Amino acid sequence: KSGKIRSTLRWTWRLTYLSLLGTIGYTCYQIWDDRHPQEQFQPDPSKKTLVVLGTGWGSVGLLKNLDTENYNVIVISPRNYFLFTPLLPSCTTGLIEHRSIMEPVRTILRHKKAAVKYYEAEASSVDPDRKVIKIVDNRDGTPKGAETEIPYDMLVIGVGAENATFGIPGVRENSCFLKEIGDAQLIRKKIMDCVERASFKGQTQEEIDRLMHMVVVGGGPTGVEFAGELRDFFEEDIKKLIPEISHRFKVTLIEALPNVLPSFSKQLIEYTENTMREENIDIKLKTMVKRVTEETVQAEVSRPDGSKEVLTIPYGLLVWATGNAVRPVVRDLLGKIPAQKNSRRGLAVNEYLVVQGTSDIWAVGDCAVAGYAPTAQVASQEGTFLARLFNNMAKTEAHEGRITELSGTLNLQQGNAAEVAQEIESLEKQLRRIKDVKPFKYSHQGSLAYIGSDKAVADVPWFNGNFASGGSLTFLFWRSAYLSMCFSTRNRVLVIVDWLKSKAFGRDVSRE
Ligand code: FAD
Ligand code: NAI
Repeated sequence: KSGKIRSTLRWTWRLTYLSLLGTIGYTCYQIWDDRHPQEQFQPDPSKKTLVVLGTGWGSVGLLKNLDTENYNVIVISPRNYFLFTPLLPSCTTGLIEHRSIMEPVRTILRHKKAAVKYYEAEASSVDPDRKVIKIVDNRDGTPKGAETEIPYDMLVIGVGAENATFGIPGVRENSCFLKEIGDAQLIRKKIMDCVERASFKGQTQEEIDRLMHMVVVGGGPTGVEFAGELRDFFEEDIKKLIPEISHRFKVTLIEALPNVLPSFSKQLIEYTENTMREENIDIKLKTMVKRVTEETVQAEVSRPDGSKEVLTIPYGLLVWATGNAVRPVVRDLLGKIPAQKNSRRGLAVNEYLVVQGTSDIWAVGDCAVAGYAPTAQVASQEGTFLARLFNNMAKTEAHEGRITELSGTLNLQQGNAAEVAQEIESLEKQLRRIKDVKPFKYSHQGSLAYIGSDKAVADVPWFNGNFASGGSLTFLFWRSAYLSMCFSTRNRVLVIVDWLKSKAFGRDVSRE
């Protein structure tokens, strides 16, 4: 019996060793491949111009899978990198360095077969009648730079969304958002601002309490994940480094609805709320923020008896995470397309993601209204779908052109008429298959969220039902899932190194 166990152990060891070697080999190959892109050829100028707006989940999902040799592809975005948003909350505390979750768009495009043009600019308006986009070069520091027009034959809009503030006074002026890298960097700096100012000589008790009070508005996944990261930062690092003020630290999460994480299952909502309360995160439910000043948040609480009470909450840091609003370029386009006059949340698209009321404009991700939640999963799948659709459209055009050409020669070349007819038949067969593109259907892979203290929650579809789990094992699943989803091997390696670095040396609290 012991011989059998020994042999099983030996085989397990061999398999582990082999898979480790395989992983190392694959990673090395990926790194080498990233650094040695193949020669690119210039696309044929007679082909259609496909303009892609944005370099987020939707647009990059499209670019990754598109055969760029079929079109003249132009990418326009004010952000010259793809951002892996699921790990953005971790950048606010320095657990992960921001460059680890950014992938330069130039690297992505350099690996395409045919060259793709990229302009770092913002689309300010789209003219669907003239089929042109107005773009403006407004890079940081450039006071409203050059403006020009880009004509298109086909246009994909993947500009995402901006932060919703619902016109609440004081929000834009006084809060931090959490959507872009710059937001995470600002939050990281402001946390340390509050900590250092609270530790300043002679600071009043009242001022210390205010500075050390971190308020998060919005109990969606962004707010919950950020509150969790913040709590970890204080427990794991600040407490050790500046113990004299650490007991004054407080996180409050304000949510207008009766619960946090409305899109998760009931048991996970309860688990999240209980875990966060145990972690001393004060969750204020049924509380709607109505006004923000430089140092306070004014919120209206709905009491169980139906009465309302107004609270004034002093804060040191305020992070506003109340969801999405339509970007100006999209709002402008909505006003130009009569079929979109009732669209409020974005560009209404049909099942092939064509913007309703147009024939050559498609929309993906948070700026499109296709009946799905505004998530990275949806945006990425929509982008991949469009790539397949466009690849098929190009093949269809090529096949149809060849059929017309062959049909024209059919009578002239009596000798090989049978062969030509056979080729036409085969092309028509292929064409029917290519043309049979099924409408876009989203496949939900599950929802995950980090809730602090090395715990996460996951709602994963399981056969015909749903598997809900929360805790430390789910946290490991959360980490491995997001690690595997990182854009490149480079990102993956950097994120692992950041996690190890923070574990070994703690987060870096120096203020740049
Ligand atoms: P984005 O990814 O936002 O990209 C928009 C692009 O358009 C950007 O490159 C931007 O620079 C560009 N752009 C903006 N304006 C213009 C313009 N005028 N002209 C040209 N380009 C323009 N979803 C999940 O599924 N799982 C998660 O774990 C998750 N975590 C998240 C964490 C955070 C902190 C946040 C904020 C979101 C998270 N999301 C998550 C949601 C997800 O990030 C979005 O749904 C997703 O980014 C939408 O993709 P998109 O391509 O529509 O837009
Ligand atoms: P959200 O729209 O999911 O949640 C915003 C919350 O703010 C809502 O619950 C709303 O009731 C609340 N709110 C609005 N106004 C308020 C006010 N004045 N006072 C108090 N509360 C107020 O927004 P979020 O979290 O930014 O997410 C945006 C999208 O990105 C969602 O689709 C989400 O699923 C996705 N996302 C997914 C993540 C994940 O899967 N882990 C992480 C982050 C975002």
